[in-house]
Amino acid sequence: MRLPLLVLFSVSTTVTFKNDKQKEDGCGGQWDGSDLPKASMHFVVSLYKLVSSKTENAPPNFFLSPFSIYTTLAMLGLGARSSTQQQILDVMCLNASQADKILKDDFKNFLEKSRTKQGEVDFKFSNWLFLDNSISPDTQYQQDLLNYYSTYVQSIDFKAPSKAEKIINEQVSGHSDGKIEDLVRNVKSCTLIVLLDYVKFNAKWESPFTSQGTKRGPFKVNKLKTIEVEMMHQVGQFKTFKDHAHDCVAVEVPYTDQLVLLLIVPNNGDLDEVENKLSTRLIERYLNKAKTSLLDLYIPITFVQQEVNVQSALMKMGMIQAFNETADLSGISTQPGLKVSGIFHKTLINIAENQTESTEGAIIKVFTLPSALEFKIDRPFLALVYNKPMNTILLLGRVIDPSED
Ligand SMILES: *[C@@H]1O[C@H](CO)[C@@H](O)[C@H](O)[C@H]1NC(C)=O
Ligand SMILES: *[C@@H]1O[C@H](CO)[C@@H](O)[C@H](O)[C@H]1NC(C)=O
Ligand SMILES: *[C@@H]1O[C@H](CO)[C@@H](O)[C@H](O)[C@H]1NC(C)=O
Repeated sequence: MRLPLLVLFSVSTTVTFKNDKQKEDGCGGQWDGSDLPKASMHFVVSLYKLVSSKTENAPPNFFLSPFSIYTTLAMLGLGARSSTQQQILDVMCLNASQADKILKDDFKNFLEKSRTKQGEVDFKFSNWLFLDNSISPDTQYQQDLLNYYSTYVQSIDFKAPSKAEKIINEQVSGHSDGKIEDLVRNVKSCTLIVLLDYVKFNAKWESPFTSQGTKRGPFKVNKLKTIEVEMMHQVGQFKTFKDHAHDCVAVEVPYTDQLVLLLIVPNNGDLDEVENKLSTRLIERYLNKAKTSLLDLYIPITFVQQEVNVQSALMKMGMIQAFNETADLSGISTQPGLKVSGIFHKTLINIAENQTESTEGAIIKVFTLPSALEFKIDRPFLALVYNKPMNTILLLGRVIDPSED
């Protein structure tokens, strides 16, 4: 069985700035702003909470990849100076007084570790930076991008916006084997910088789901709406944790012994309580305290392809100046007036049985054992992909309606 394919990208267009420091307390109690994996977890949980909150016009289904947005922000941070840089690092839960070390050597290590291929798990991401051809990029910045982020500044004519858009989209589409189309939209002729990246995640389940096991079943989107979805099914040993305080159950479905999909399922289908209380501590507790039990597990086949507006969330988190005319991006270019005009983020994730090979062993699992506890994920849930050796989240999102994409 094959597993989720996830493609994710974020784009940021730069052209200008502002100056108002908003302290964010989402970086955890014993904050250590030099631990990148940990900081990235705090960052993505804070971001998730803002993006998912009802006031944000939040999409029912969406996923964020901290790596993708984080790398984009780090590349921007590398070229930012003064309070513009300080705000970017604060939002990333990183120690701004160590910006140079963190955004260079530490980040390079972080990216290399996360790119390591383990078994059948394929986690890849790429980043690009497009700069309008009227701006000459700083030579040192170009070298640093290449050295630490393995990417380079590409010169493009944004004054012909639709042509620029086409060039960028073709490049991304080609690079992602056609998985990501039309990544960049509505480019304006005043655009000076576009930063973009995408992530591809592709892995097989450790213990496969079979397509024979998949059946249609009800999924309760909310009190008033129940739909029919395809549920993949397997009986097996799964680590689970019952959180009585938040009235939810967490189930770990492994891809490998190092990489797991953690599903967090509120008993009453109402995500609010868990979303409000979500923290890296809570996630770590689920992962550390989960106990193995025999489950008759049903998971809805889910495909999520959703664009997420992360800009307003980042601004709420305190990254304001980078979007204002007063932004100091002088590390990228000394040309005045550079600012970030937008950051967009899109994910594509596919949770399915994808039975392409290895049905061996799987057949047995279709039978229901009498002692197995039935657990049907037939209501909204949170999901995250967690890398255990790195202690970090690769993806975090939610599914409210599996029939939407
Ligand atoms: C940019 O920052 C200045 C100074 O803080 C502020 O007056 C202005 O409104 C900001 N502009 C935008 C577009 O937010
Ligand atoms: C941030 O880095 C500075 C310089 O290395 C250090 O003195 C300070 O203690 C660090 N702050 C935190 C919270 O770790
Ligand atoms: C898994 O199956 C879905 C739908 O059947 C398909 O769209 C997707 O490309 C498959 N993914 C992989 C990794 O094979």
